[in-house]
Amino acid sequence: MISETELKTALTAVGQEHLLRFWPELDAAGRAKLAGEIAALDLNGLAGLIKEYVLQKPKTVIPDDLGPAPFFALHPRSDAESAFYVKARKRGAELLKSGRVCCLTVAGGQGTRLGFDGPKGTYPIGPVSGRTLFEYFAGNILRAGEKYGRPITWYVMTSLLNREATERFFREHDYLGLAPEQVFFFTQGTMPAIGYDGKLLLGSKDGLALSPDGHGGTLLALRKSGALDRMAAEGTDVISYFQVDNPLVAMTDPLFLGLHDLEGAEMSAIMLAKTNPFEKLGNFCVSGGRTHIIEYSDLPEELAVRKNPDGTLAFIAGSPAMHLIRRQFVERLTAGGSLKLPWHRADKKIPCVDASGAPVKPETPNGVKLESFIFDALPMAEKVMILEGDRAEVFGPTKNATGVDSAESCRAMLVERDAKRLEAAGISVPRKADGTVDALIEIAPRIALDADDVKAYAGTHSIRILSGDRIVLE
Ligand code: UTP
Repeated sequence: MISETELKTALTAVGQEHLLRFWPELDAAGRAKLAGEIAALDLNGLAGLIKEYVLQKPKTVIPDDLGPAPFFALHPRSDAESAFYVKARKRGAELLKSGRVCCLTVAGGQGTRLGFDGPKGTYPIGPVSGRTLFEYFAGNILRAGEKYGRPITWYVMTSLLNREATERFFREHDYLGLAPEQVFFFTQGTMPAIGYDGKLLLGSKDGLALSPDGHGGTLLALRKSGALDRMAAEGTDVISYFQVDNPLVAMTDPLFLGLHDLEGAEMSAIMLAKTNPFEKLGNFCVSGGRTHIIEYSDLPEELAVRKNPDGTLAFIAGSPAMHLIRRQFVERLTAGGSLKLPWHRADKKIPCVDASGAPVKPETPNGVKLESFIFDALPMAEKVMILEGDRAEVFGPTKNATGVDSAESCRAMLVERDAKRLEAAGISVPRKADGTVDALIEIAPRIALDADDVKAYAGTHSIRILSGDRIVLE
């Protein structure tokens, strides 16, 4: 263990000696814990970040040449494109059949807005059964493995704070039907929270206030954890990346996979047509020949409201954070064992201890968390492919408990999507006067990856749904 004198010298050099304030009263275990956390920090690097991101509010520079990013439309725009989509679907299916695709769920976030006690993936989202977010993904992964004849490895990124609870959940639920070796857990990095005075915050007398380093931490964590090696050994070179809060995600869409591969993209993305100029989605843009996401809060109003001659928004492409990432791209980015993505500042209410050691639960933001974002890898990709997604089919983020982007709205979307799939299969679904479904319907993700699966199921089962029913098709 690093000595107290060494710690003091290193911390004093960067104005952070207050971290040892409670040292005299700590026992051996407490000292070892604190010393370990401090030793893991890049103190000089942090000093630079504090100057740049904490002591001043960093300004986002919007390039002069910013334009909307091109994308493949949901429906092909020409006969040639139609033929290309057919070819792409075939290629996507081949990738799945040859085992070249894996799934990656980022589940290291703190889910503070949802206010749920436990890893967000264990949140019960099923409209009838209450099956969890993780069960939705596991069910679809199992079904895709069955459909394409090759089991899919599932990489689940956690943070130090929720790794144990996440793994325990999987163990206690028999890996949700997957083989234990089919699931690879890995842990992202952490960053210390920083007070507005530039001083690192103590979360307790013997520990820093640490938080996960953002979903951008995925890329380096993939290397450090050995996940990239495992992918290489298994012959996987397409990583289907999605967030833990969206059970509607189409994680093995053959069209998306095929276009990504045929276009030779290093990183691809689904885009959703924004419903209004100021919708809270990142905007796909191009500048200097590279793809960038400009956050909704940073896109100048003049650009946000700009229209095409046909009246559609010029900057219409919003990001729901669904990506395909080529393994070799991650290998290239992290080759030296490090990766420089820009940091983003978030002003947060950070629980900590004050100078007397008393715990503080602030009512207003008291400091800054620094996070990196996965989409900042887009400009580093030589080639990016963007495909428009069908919002009602693929995007129901569970960010809040109620209201917009909530568990409530997500459940309603799941019911509506499954109802539409049943109707397309010729099953009658009761609807209220306002058109909403007059029953609670849930199709198990294990049996239905897509509308074709529902059609096949409906062909072999007798299904009758009456007003007010609560029904799970398993
Ligand atoms: P969000 O931006 O919704 O953050 O993450 P969050 O921490 O889950 O929720 P709030 O803001 O506290 O309410 C989007 C996705 O990125 C993952 C989350 O788990 C979610 O799937 N994520 C976020 C990480 O894996 N690590 C992080 O450090 C941050």
